[in-house]
Amino acid sequence: MARHLITSAIPYINGIKHLGNLVGSQLPADLSARYLRQRGHEVMFICATDEHGTPAELAAKKAGKPVAEYCAEMHATQAGIAQNFGLSFDHFGRSSSERNHVLTQHFAGKLDENGYVSEVEERQVYSIDDGRFLPDRYIEGTCPNCGYDKARGDQCENCTKQLDPTDLIDPRSAISGSTNLEVRATKHLYLRQRTLRPELEAWIDSKNDWPILTTSIAKKWLNDGDGLQDRGITRDLDWGIPVKKGEKPWPGMEGKVFYVWFDAPIEYIAGTAECTDARGEPDAAWRRWWRLDEGADDVTYTQFMGKDNVPFHTLSFPATIIGSGEPWKLVDYIKSFNYLTYDGGQFSTSQGRGVFMDQALSILPADYWRWWLLSHAPESGDAEFTWDNFQQSVNKDLADVLGNFVSRITKFCRSKFGEVVPQGGEYGPEELALIDAIDARVRAYEGFMDRMEVRKSASELRAIWVLGNEYLQSAAPWTTIKTDEVRAAMQVRLGLNLIRLYAVLSAPFIPFAADTMLAGMQTDDRAWPMDARSALETLPAGHAFTVPEVLFAKISDEQRDEWQERFKGIRT
Ligand code: 2FM
Ligand code: ZN
Repeated sequence: MARHLITSAIPYINGIKHLGNLVGSQLPADLSARYLRQRGHEVMFICATDEHGTPAELAAKKAGKPVAEYCAEMHATQAGIAQNFGLSFDHFGRSSSERNHVLTQHFAGKLDENGYVSEVEERQVYSIDDGRFLPDRYIEGTCPNCGYDKARGDQCENCTKQLDPTDLIDPRSAISGSTNLEVRATKHLYLRQRTLRPELEAWIDSKNDWPILTTSIAKKWLNDGDGLQDRGITRDLDWGIPVKKGEKPWPGMEGKVFYVWFDAPIEYIAGTAECTDARGEPDAAWRRWWRLDEGADDVTYTQFMGKDNVPFHTLSFPATIIGSGEPWKLVDYIKSFNYLTYDGGQFSTSQGRGVFMDQALSILPADYWRWWLLSHAPESGDAEFTWDNFQQSVNKDLADVLGNFVSRITKFCRSKFGEVVPQGGEYGPEELALIDAIDARVRAYEGFMDRMEVRKSASELRAIWVLGNEYLQSAAPWTTIKTDEVRAAMQVRLGLNLIRLYAVLSAPFIPFAADTMLAGMQTDDRAWPMDARSALETLPAGHAFTVPEVLFAKISDEQRDEWQERFKGIRT
């Protein structure tokens, strides 16, 4: 049994996330966590809300609430939606937790002790009309790298370049839109990433199995212009983790907080530390996931994220870890994703364009979305959500292939043999060929799942479902039974066992349907198949079952058109 630490990028607190956010981190991370648990590994799957910085302050202001209250409410909302989507976090923490305060201040203190922090008297954009500095998202403008006109002060989401507010062309305040801005002096801490460049480069170079998307973004910013830039890690904001050197005050930094991107990834560690054991007690053993000197050297750590997060996880966070000089675990594998676009454009919160997580669940159960999103995950390039494609995928893969198989075999059995697995009959060549084909495909499926190739895993799983349907079609127990009842019984017994096997194999993708299938088969045997032949003998003759409710309903053309209209957004 191996140990796997899995983290998903932690979603900003500033609102309910859309399906593009979901498929870019939390959902594939969940797929992997569920799969590895089913394979018998020990898994620690951590996510949290990212609660500091300008996104939180701006959203709270808009909601007319104190920021702490807004964050507490939105954390509960996001946690509830995540649960309804079947996201199986071992802990869904908050980056504003006490534990994260302590750890973030600890890392800053260590970095300073090791000479990786400098105090910089710098020039920052100040909004005269708003009466405040405009860090990060408080300022918008045109990206100097790619020309995107809605780049934010901390990063251009179009080209992923990390920015400073003073880099923006034609800057404006995101609060008031004012362009009445000036540059004023203020003092901030910088993380001396340049000094750590050789270590970071050697570490990135040693990762020759990373996805091309991850490595190319890492190398691009490692070698950007004249090399990796030092990054400001403090801000003139009220809400955040107060700047301290460990437990001690940091002279000259009073009233300032750490930059949200400095403390957010540290919450991966703090979140693990916040886990409680079965008795609700804090798990004193969290360090075995994170400290190389306390057992974490045999942990495999995988991070899941959208491409805009890659620079922070390949450069900034590793710089924090390496620069601390302490034996913390570095990530082993970074699975990154391109963007999901919505019907020819972008998802947009302000324009109400696209489907957000709560809306998705209000129209269809989670598995419909999980299946479409994962089987169309934006791995090798951006992917596009269209209602047509969604309808086709659901109706064909889920309703016609999987749902229909389950319904036909269970209903046929009920009508001819009763709700009990029938006995008698021996496998013939057709069954043996099916078993061989399933074995081969299950091994291929495992290979793709082990390598986190999400789309390929989905298509292999679909192919396994198709094998069952093709078998049923050609074996045709409804015809066999007219001449050979014993043979028909064997075909049906095999079919019922296939339902259990499909539930087990499909559970990482569609956990709710898998539960329904297992409940119908009146078993909780979730053992991963070592070989198809014995796996298909799990439900013995005489075992009772019930016909499950309809697994997946088809999406009608009317529903498709109505939803397309409903989610198209107020402006184009
Ligand atoms: O892009 C985002 O949604 C960020 N909140 C992700 C942070 S991931 C991490 F570093 F914790
Ligand atoms: Zn750009």
